[in-house]
Amino acid sequence: MHFATAVANANIALIKYWGKRDEKLMLPTKNSFSVSLNALNTTTKVSFANNDSLLINGVAATTKSQEKFFHFLVEFREKYKINSNFCVESINNFPTAAGLASSASGFAALTLALNDLCGLGLERKKLSMLARLGSGSASRSVYNGFVLFNRGSLSDGLDAFAEQIFDDSHWPEFRIIVVVLESGPKKISSSQAMKITTSTSTSYVDWVDQSNLRLPQMIDAVAQKDIAAVGTLAEQDCLGMHQTMRDASPSINYFNGCTWQVVNAVRQLRDSGVECYFTIDAGPNVKVLTTSFEQKKVLNTLAQLTGVQRIIVSGI
Ligand code: PMV
Repeated sequence: MHFATAVANANIALIKYWGKRDEKLMLPTKNSFSVSLNALNTTTKVSFANNDSLLINGVAATTKSQEKFFHFLVEFREKYKINSNFCVESINNFPTAAGLASSASGFAALTLALNDLCGLGLERKKLSMLARLGSGSASRSVYNGFVLFNRGSLSDGLDAFAEQIFDDSHWPEFRIIVVVLESGPKKISSSQAMKITTSTSTSYVDWVDQSNLRLPQMIDAVAQKDIAAVGTLAEQDCLGMHQTMRDASPSINYFNGCTWQVVNAVRQLRDSGVECYFTIDAGPNVKVLTTSFEQKKVLNTLAQLTGVQRIIVSGI
């Protein structure tokens, strides 16, 4: 085979992963739980080459993404005793520059394509562990639907992989509205911010404990398709995670004025009886969790806010 192509969806964590227990093996300190986004995906084509190269949307990758990519290929070759180099062409169907997490779908698609090209025939669990070496959240993007990423307890990481809990047909009415906001370049990478948080934050251990208690409640809420419970738990988990960053030294903040504006709009909508909730990751953009029944009302409100660059509506 001369080339292989694979597609993977982005995912948003409802119960967050934040912090590593092993940096080289990318082992998380805690379990996380996510939902896949059918509107946001990466398509990746890989072929054998004389040198490693990476094109994202037809343009040579930035130094930062190249670093992570080269690191991943080094680990991949070592793990599967492969000598080749690879030409990788990755296309995101969403704005890469808008600060949306493309590393999860990117590394998941790369993993799936390499598995095909090199004829490895890896099972999902192994694919998840391999994608994890690119980016922790990528371990969840080798599946669709609602996905649990187990932290594992072994030091070699052989029990740190993701698994699907509900498939993508479980909750057809669930919607994730991605609100892309005006923003400059990312202030600090998630890896660096995680490191500062785990080593200095005064509230980190407490958040991990609380988040671990929320996880079974979240799985139960998704099983029941209870948007109020899912949204409330997701907001608590997200706000707790961002608080751990504010309590770190130096303090880290990914929100900007527009972020707060969207958060307040979501809260006001909810006060007026519309079922919608927010979650935010390592950047200023907001993801609104709601249902197809409420989608129109939410979109009408969001469209009126200043600082909103683009709105993407996604199902699972
Ligand atoms: O996988 P990374 O290194 O991009 O980290 C993801 C961290 C969060 O998006 C903030 C949370 C998560 O679980 O996806």
